[in-house]
Amino acid sequence: MIEGDFIKMEAHSVSNIIQRGGTILKSSRSEQFRTPEGRQIAYNRLKEAGIDALVAIGGDGTFAGAKAFFTEYRIPTIGVPGTIDNDLYGTDFTIGYDTALNTVVEAIDKIRDTADSHDRLFFIEVMGRDAGFIALNSGIAGGAEMVLIPETKTYIDQVVERLEQGWRRKKASSIIVVAEGDETGGAIEVARAVKERFNQYDTRVVVLGHIQRGGSPSCADRVLASRLGVAAFEALDEGLSNLMVGLVNDEIKHTSFTQAIKHEAKLDTSLMRIVDILSS
Ligand code: F6P
Repeated sequence: MIEGDFIKMEAHSVSNIIQRGGTILKSSRSEQFRTPEGRQIAYNRLKEAGIDALVAIGGDGTFAGAKAFFTEYRIPTIGVPGTIDNDLYGTDFTIGYDTALNTVVEAIDKIRDTADSHDRLFFIEVMGRDAGFIALNSGIAGGAEMVLIPETKTYIDQVVERLEQGWRRKKASSIIVVAEGDETGGAIEVARAVKERFNQYDTRVVVLGHIQRGGSPSCADRVLASRLGVAAFEALDEGLSNLMVGLVNDEIKHTSFTQAIKHEAKLDTSLMRIVDILSS
């Protein structure tokens, strides 16, 4: 918007992209849009181009920007939740989350082959700057021994204790999934702290990084994105604005930007119990 880099799109403009990751729009975070001056330029460009409504696709940063822009210029704006972190209020799932989860589980399966073959302890870091959705659910699906997430306090002593218990039970290998946003500082830090106190296992650290944000979308993500895309245009058509479309209990729901970005914790941390039960 700030650069006035607009292209007219028809239905055929999106043909042959449903199977692709990333974005053909090439939109991303903008420092300039965070400033009132940047938003003024964006508004001027929109007006020049005769654009009278916006669909903002992204996470909390995108919606914070969309909200500020709407408050200042009243251009009808609808948000579509697109982030692998799944940390938005007002939708059970965000676009990209399911694909990222499947990528992580596939990676854990592959790493487990080495862990198991060579009796190793692996710390696997997954994305989630502020949220443990990916870590917790991939940890359960990948059969991890422990999961460390920002929503619950991580005590290195407890991690060491669990590993010692496993060692005594002759557990030959272990996998610990660490969310990048865990307050310990991530997998490298946890591995270092653990090794200082318990060094029986041959230990490795894997940071999965951006492979989690690419690749062909899962079926669930394609259907979700298609449903939310249609819902966004229908909302604009009904004259709605300043809200995010989401899917709650398999139904389209509208949630104000203010609420969506409030970060109300919706991760069910009681699922940590499942990790404990299944790995003990
Ligand atoms: O915001 C989503 C996210 O996947 C975070 O979990 C992660 O910290 C971040 O993106 C990394 O993205 P980048 O390297 O582009 O800043």
